[in-house]
Amino acid sequence: MAAPSSLKGLLFLSLLAFCFGKTANEWKSRVVYQIITDRFGRDDGSASGCGDMWHYCGGTWRGIMNHLDYISALGVNAIWISPIPLNIEGAYHGYAAKDLAQLNPHFGSSDDLKNLINACHKKDIWVMADVVANHMGNPGNEDFSQLHPFNNETYYHRRCQINNYQNQTEVEFCRLADLPDLDQDNTYVRSQLYQWVRSTVATYGFDGIRIDTIPEVNKAFWPGFAQAAGVFQLGEVFDGRVDYVAGYQAVIDATLSYPMYFTLRDVFQRQASVRRIADTLSAYDRYFKDQTVLGTFLDNHDNPRFLQGQSDYTLYQNGLAYVLMTEGVPLLYYGTEQGFSGGADPGCREPLWPTRYAQSNPLFKFLQTVLQFRTSVALWNQGPQVERYIDDNFLAFTRGDVLTLVTNVGSNGPTVQRTLTYLPASYKDGTKLCNIFWPNDDCITVTGGKLDVALLRGETKIFYPKRA
Ligand SMILES: *[C@@H]1O[C@H](CO)[C@@H](O)[C@H](O)[C@H]1NC(C)=O
Ligand SMILES: *[C@@H]1O[C@H](CO)[C@@H](O)[C@H](O)[C@H]1NC(C)=O
Repeated sequence: MAAPSSLKGLLFLSLLAFCFGKTANEWKSRVVYQIITDRFGRDDGSASGCGDMWHYCGGTWRGIMNHLDYISALGVNAIWISPIPLNIEGAYHGYAAKDLAQLNPHFGSSDDLKNLINACHKKDIWVMADVVANHMGNPGNEDFSQLHPFNNETYYHRRCQINNYQNQTEVEFCRLADLPDLDQDNTYVRSQLYQWVRSTVATYGFDGIRIDTIPEVNKAFWPGFAQAAGVFQLGEVFDGRVDYVAGYQAVIDATLSYPMYFTLRDVFQRQASVRRIADTLSAYDRYFKDQTVLGTFLDNHDNPRFLQGQSDYTLYQNGLAYVLMTEGVPLLYYGTEQGFSGGADPGCREPLWPTRYAQSNPLFKFLQTVLQFRTSVALWNQGPQVERYIDDNFLAFTRGDVLTLVTNVGSNGPTVQRTLTYLPASYKDGTKLCNIFWPNDDCITVTGGKLDVALLRGETKIFYPKRA
């Protein structure tokens, strides 16, 4: 009697594990490739560019599905796609919903979306939906009758604009870009939004959600929304203040790591002191409940690309190495691997198809090497990040046995030579470490409790013990 019932229990548990989305902890094993659905892949095979970057360029869910091999080859194992609901006309980005109950027909059908997610799951690629609960579409239009299910002015805050982001009342009650601002204290609004996110995740099988405009909504709204979603939540708090951003981890699993983004841009794009990274990390230690699940990134759709302001690939590679090797859930914006360099929105939302998904770009190969290594050593299980050396131009840190070195001197900079004396206990004398980028030609040996390292022409290096 005991055996069959425990077998049933097991089956039930594994079904639960299969049906329910992934937790914050499980997401640490992922590297998320951020896709603007309209800009990643067309399904007609056309490789000509985009006539008007402010409007639809032709990307679809099938277009993404057709290029999952490219995504897998890069080595990422999750994607984040644009919001899926029907939007007001022209809103190719998806952040101006018209009807939450319908899908955006420009991106495809319900079957296309289900097929995409099934195809991703077959390749162990998890899928994160981008969701918006702050506002609906139709900027500047006070006729709400066309919006569903919020078709009445009683569901919205009265019209005013956010001018001062230091004034939290204004941030929560006024409008972003004049978009109708939902009143989440209205019980109908709140319950409809909870029901919508629950059914969106369940219907399509999303593994996580990225939530737009977190601080623009009253904090009290978010725990119920997070619970209704039932999967890992990564929220956008577009702000450089660590204490402010960290405050939102009380109500959702994690936020985008915006303060560190600003720091990394300063350090690697503008060559500010590398010590800034340690300063930001110590503020993170002080304020975040759990800084190991934040979404770390160097680019996204809301900021000019890194290469817009700094064309040195070597500096870019150092910044990317930091993002991919530090603790957190790294986010890689599509086009990074092709060296895209677009400016402010919509310049940074280039169509990918003119590249024909070539894998020859040195950045593609660089990312492939780092990502393949990251997965092969299960970096997320290697242990916490420990700073081993820092000065204005150089940082060394370890996670378990993995040693990462970054510099901000750039490809024309001097050779960076340092002697590390604060080493992990596992680095005994005689331990041979090899650089993952030149595993047969660039190895160093721990001698007298020290490690001499050298970075040439501004390169980054990642060392790992060579097992005999
Ligand atoms: C909006 O709701 C109010 C209160 O229920 C109602 O009086 C009004 O007629 C509605 N307006 C529209 C345009 O439906
Ligand atoms: C903040 O914004 C609200 C709404 O616009 C306004 O009523 C209030 O006076 C502002 N507070 C401060 C301190 O500026």
